[in-house]
Amino acid sequence: PSDSDLQILRSAIRDVVDFPKPGIVFKDITPVLADAKLFRLAIDCFAEATRAAGAEKVVGIDARGFLFGAAVAYQLGLGFVPIRKKGKLPYKTQSAAYTLEYGEAVVEMHVDAVQPGEKVVLIDDLLATGGTAAAAIKLIELMGAKLVEAQFLIELDFLQGRVNLPADRVRAFLHF
Ligand code: PRP
Ligand code: ADE
Repeated sequence: PSDSDLQILRSAIRDVVDFPKPGIVFKDITPVLADAKLFRLAIDCFAEATRAAGAEKVVGIDARGFLFGAAVAYQLGLGFVPIRKKGKLPYKTQSAAYTLEYGEAVVEMHVDAVQPGEKVVLIDDLLATGGTAAAAIKLIELMGAKLVEAQFLIELDFLQGRVNLPADRVRAFLHF
């Protein structure tokens, strides 16, 4: 993506103050999703990086990670795996608890969703404290798969979420 494309994407992210809790400035990506050109631009960013990383499968995080991850998987002809909030996946799961910028939760992945040695990319809309992504990476690695890259449309630099992740394998396209 060119710098001007990234600037256009960045300017479409909407700040919503005090959502979902007082003191949080929520980065709303729905204007990107709703605009055909911007949505394609965002998917192209992820897809180019995912191809370059040599990923064999895309793992997306509930729920906003699904919006980008599934489109990237389709674009590259790869399979897609959902990591979901607790209680949503029907088959046998592995779970991991975590805290995030505005709460705590448990995520789960099906035990047969990724294979030992498989190269996977993790996709989500936003990296804040890194709690969610760290839990997702833990699940991927518990299954014996190999995380080639964790990719985010947005990184909130001031929260230093990268320190909770394998920083050399973290990529974000927009920084705030
Ligand atoms: C948001 C976002 C990331 C996570 C980042 O998801 O989509 O998954 O928070 O926060 P962290 O880096 O501090 O862990 P949320 O749990 O709000 O779920 P949603 O996608 O269903 O809205
Ligand atoms: N997830 C965690 N922190 C967030 C924020 N500030 N905006 C949007 N999603 C988030």
